[in-house]
Amino acid sequence: MTESGIVYLVGSGPGDPDLLTLKAHRLLQRCDALVHDALVPMELLELVPEDCAVHAVGKRRGHHSVPQPSTNALLLELAQTHRCVVRLKGGDPFLFGRGGEEAAYLAKRGVTVEVVPGVTSGIAAPAYVGIPVTHRRAGSSVTFVTGHEEIDKGRPGVDWQALAAASDGLVIYMGLHNLARICQELQAGGLAATTPAAIIQQGSVNGQKHLIATLEDLAEAAQDQGFSAPAIVVIGEVVEHRVPACAPLPAPVTMPQPIPRVALTPTS
Ligand SMILES: C[S@@+](CC[C@H](N)C(=O)[O-])C[C@H]1O[C@@H](n2cnc3c(N)ncnc32)[C@H](O)[C@@H]1O
Repeated sequence: MTESGIVYLVGSGPGDPDLLTLKAHRLLQRCDALVHDALVPMELLELVPEDCAVHAVGKRRGHHSVPQPSTNALLLELAQTHRCVVRLKGGDPFLFGRGGEEAAYLAKRGVTVEVVPGVTSGIAAPAYVGIPVTHRRAGSSVTFVTGHEEIDKGRPGVDWQALAAASDGLVIYMGLHNLARICQELQAGGLAATTPAAIIQQGSVNGQKHLIATLEDLAEAAQDQGFSAPAIVVIGEVVEHRVPACAPLPAPVTMPQPIPRVALTPTS
């Protein structure tokens, strides 16, 4: 092909395939190249045409997987050789998903790129255990924040003490590794030790589990009960407004996917 194709940055939602948008579903059925993360269910890959070129570029703490510059270069290369490239990311591509970086990289090089928003795990995982991330009786604000600050050294650290005072509710992505420190900082910033909190692991898919604890007990409970990524941490009075009866059943799908062992070499 001589004309360059379109790259769609598509959010796959938190895992349950029923939460895929119609647009994402349509694009998966007609793409001729797919580049996907680890936090998308295996079953979604069955939607793509048989002759679609599929590339796994998952990243996870402690694993050597495809570095971001290699993923960027791969997307550029595929845009030059394929008609419809889907870059499939867990949740929403623009929420802690590096979607903004990939969009800018491609747009700067003249590639047509379009984002397809997805249902973020920070809202869906709590919902799958009946926790609303806002509630009129639990204040007026919620903050989506990463607990994995060193993931991007160019980004300033989170001021947890300031957040404790500024936000009624917190939804923390990638928060398990630093949880003990985060909980201490939040208490130093004025949050009561008794503030309700929850952790939801594998929200919306096979293996979903959760715990409810107070802020002071949260990190220890997570460790004792063997919680691991992917997990969302919710801190604030909203946890008290949980309605377990409204929680959907998790979908019987497999996520995360295995991490690819071999890193790609940038091609340009
Ligand atoms: C790199 S971030 C990507 C977030 C994604 N863009 C989104 O909007 O959900 C990965 C983190 O999202 C959270 N996450 C993603 N899927 C999840 C799920 N099904 N259940 C719980 N947490 C999840 C975890 O905190 C995980 O470490």
